[in-house]
Amino acid sequence: MIDRRRLAELLDRERGEFVVRNPRSHTAYQRSEHLFGRVPMTWMNKAAAGFPVYLDRARGARVRDIDGHDYVDLCLGDTGAMAGHSPLATVAAVQRRFAELGGASAMLPTEDAEWVGAELTRRFGMAAWSFALTATDANRWVLRLARAVTGRPKVLVNSYCYHGTVDESLIVVGPDGRGVSREGNVGEPVAVTETSRVAEYNDLAGLERELAHGDVAAVLMEPALTNIGIVLPEAGYLDGVRDLTRQYGVLLVNDETHTFSAGPGGCTRAWGLEPDLVTIGKAIAGGIPAGAYGMSAELAEQLRSRDDLDLIDMGGVGGTLAGNALSVAATRATLEHVLTNDAFAGMTSRADRFTGGVQHVIDERELPWSIAQLGARAEYRFTSPAPRNGSESHAAADQDLDDYMHVYLANRGILLTPFHNMALMCPETTDADVDLHHQVFVAAVDDLIG
Ligand SMILES: Cc1ncc(COP(=O)(O)O)c(C=O)c1O
Repeated sequence: MIDRRRLAELLDRERGEFVVRNPRSHTAYQRSEHLFGRVPMTWMNKAAAGFPVYLDRARGARVRDIDGHDYVDLCLGDTGAMAGHSPLATVAAVQRRFAELGGASAMLPTEDAEWVGAELTRRFGMAAWSFALTATDANRWVLRLARAVTGRPKVLVNSYCYHGTVDESLIVVGPDGRGVSREGNVGEPVAVTETSRVAEYNDLAGLERELAHGDVAAVLMEPALTNIGIVLPEAGYLDGVRDLTRQYGVLLVNDETHTFSAGPGGCTRAWGLEPDLVTIGKAIAGGIPAGAYGMSAELAEQLRSRDDLDLIDMGGVGGTLAGNALSVAATRATLEHVLTNDAFAGMTSRADRFTGGVQHVIDERELPWSIAQLGARAEYRFTSPAPRNGSESHAAADQDLDDYMHVYLANRGILLTPFHNMALMCPETTDADVDLHHQVFVAAVDDLIG
């Protein structure tokens, strides 16, 4: 259906235009000779046009690059800025904690922490919370706790999941149905099959087959996959996961880092889920690094009663800066004033508008594409029907089409997350922002299909 020659020509044209449009970013990139991969972190090289635009400033749903272009930012730091860039309430709390009171990292508790713990309990239902600086660390630490409590060595994840740079999660279902290391896995400490098991999302039979070995401490999962496109649960799947994990004595961890987009308490609250642990990071502190993990009262009690576990010093759970006063103050302000119930209602309504618009274009032009939505987040895929699991979604990837869409949009003032076609709404995203995307999306499609 898509004329690949035309796509290649258009992609060349758009990439050429991107270079001409962004001379300062291009020069900054070429001059960065002391950075590994020319960027502060190598994943910033995931740029459809060969180099990223460089940030000048950002506020709310807007970003300006160093060449002076303004963007509607639908990437929002791949969720790190779901509260909007530098939300005023968070800025004020950071200013007060860091500049006025001082003591960003004194390794002493602040009263804000209990407020945040109580709020996270109200939202996600877990009784006891602890802090990290990233969602990766929140995940790494709950896996240690789960192994300690169950006395079992392994972790089960879904194929093509992403939970941060967690060694145990870099496993996929191989061609013969068994787990294999994910392609490109960098320096795994031991074969990932020694630490992990894997099942396809939406596959209860596959999950049961793996859990029946009796060596899995925890299932770590996103309630809906969001990192290989959005893959939504089929009816009964999440209930089935809970039943099976209970049946086999396995702890269930909901990683809500991205699925937080589903509402103020993520999918856990929106869908009435009952995990044993919840992990979260990225957006909760409005752009200041923070992560958190919560556990059930029962689990907290079990851990507290174990004298053999060193949870205070060298046991492998914790970091010097975790729970620091600045991150906690920012988290409090963000949850109290920014990512509120009202904000989620508005963000979801913008995402509804986005999804409806894209679906209309797909229907009208009879494109073999699909779009999925999870609250404030929507994502289009160049395949239809929408994939049911991570492997299907991985197989359906179309890098050239992704790149074309990304560069086309960037050249016309819209940023999508560089990893896929995800569009996220923050409290300050407007209907007009969504409509601008729609207009440019229609133009990109019509240029392509003629
Ligand atoms: C579901 C999920 N969990 C954890 C992480 C890791 O977050 P961070 O890179 O901030 O540690 C990510 C990052 O994309 C994620 O999508």
